This record gives sequence, structure tokens and C-alpha cells, in this order.
Amino acid sequence: MPKPLFPVALLLLLISSAPSPAAGASSVLCNTSYYTAGDPFAISLAYVLSDLVVSGSARPGQDYYSISPYPNAFAYGRSSCSGNLNTVNCSYCLRSAVGVVEKKCPMAIGGRVELGKCGVRYEQSPFV
Ligand SMILES: *[C@@H]1O[C@H](CO)[C@@H](O)[C@H](O)[C@H]1NC(C)=O
Ligand SMILES: *[C@@H]1O[C@H](CO)[C@@H](O)[C@H](O)[C@H]1NC(C)=O
Repeated sequence: MPKPLFPVALLLLLISSAPSPAAGASSVLCNTSYYTAGDPFAISLAYVLSDLVVSGSARPGQDYYSISPYPNAFAYGRSSCSGNLNTVNCSYCLRSAVGVVEKKCPMAIGGRVELGKCGVRYEQSPFV
């Protein structure tokens, strides 16, 4: 007589009902082209990443778009927070997302990070 399938089914049920990793899920995409040290894009990017945290956390639930103000190299960015977050927690989440994109996409001309409750993206060209 074959072994009952019950233990396997129970195991699958336990796995699928475990707390969803999506709550803290993160995905990272980096452009495979890079800027060089001394490229003015670095300064524009630093401006945009900072602005994404400071201004982007003001209205959780709404996407925020940023453009660097320096004319010699533009950086474009977008940040978003879940509408469930308050501004303090949105700011904290965006700071983490910026930290991740800086660490995982060093000197990439574009990068995206999605954490569970917020995300950031930057590019050298406008995007929506
Ligand atoms: C914000 O963070 C605080 C402290 O970490 C936490 O107690 C609170 O539940 C969070 N609020 C939201 C809306 O996530
Ligand atoms: C990398 O950046 C360039 C210039 O902005 C863009 O054309 C290209 O689509 C990007 N590649 C990816 C994979 O995002």
C-alpha cells in the first residue's frame, strides 16, 4: 500500500501559508553602462537621490519625480512609497532603497530598487 500523501500535502500547505517574503521583497536592476569618476552626472545623481528621499517622502502613496538642476549632466529620478506608510516611515524606506541602489549599482547610469513598501529609480534620460 502506498504511503499516504497527507504529510506532503501538509508540508506544501505550511510552506504556502508561511509569512510572505514579498513583505520585505527587494528587487534590483542596474543599467550595464557606467559613468566614470569625475563625470558631472555623479553630482546630478547625488542631488536627485537626496531629493527623492527628502521631497519624495512628503506624500506617501504618490509617485514623486525629480530632475537635477545642473545643466551639464541631467539625472532623472522617481520614488514611490506605499500609501500605508506615514512620512517618517516613507523617508526611512526611501533612504534604505537609495542605500541599496548605491551599493548594488555603483556608477551605473541607471538603477531601480523595489523594497516591499517603497522604491526608487534613476536614469540619465526622462522616463515615466
Ligand atoms: C512607522 O514606524 C513606526 C516605528 O518603526 C511603527 O511603530 C509604525 O507602526 C509605522 N507606521 C506605519 C504606518 O508603517
Ligand atoms: C541604460 O541607460 C540607457 C541610457 O539612459 C537607456 O537607453 C537604456 O535603455 C538603459 N538600459 C536599461 C537596461 O535600463
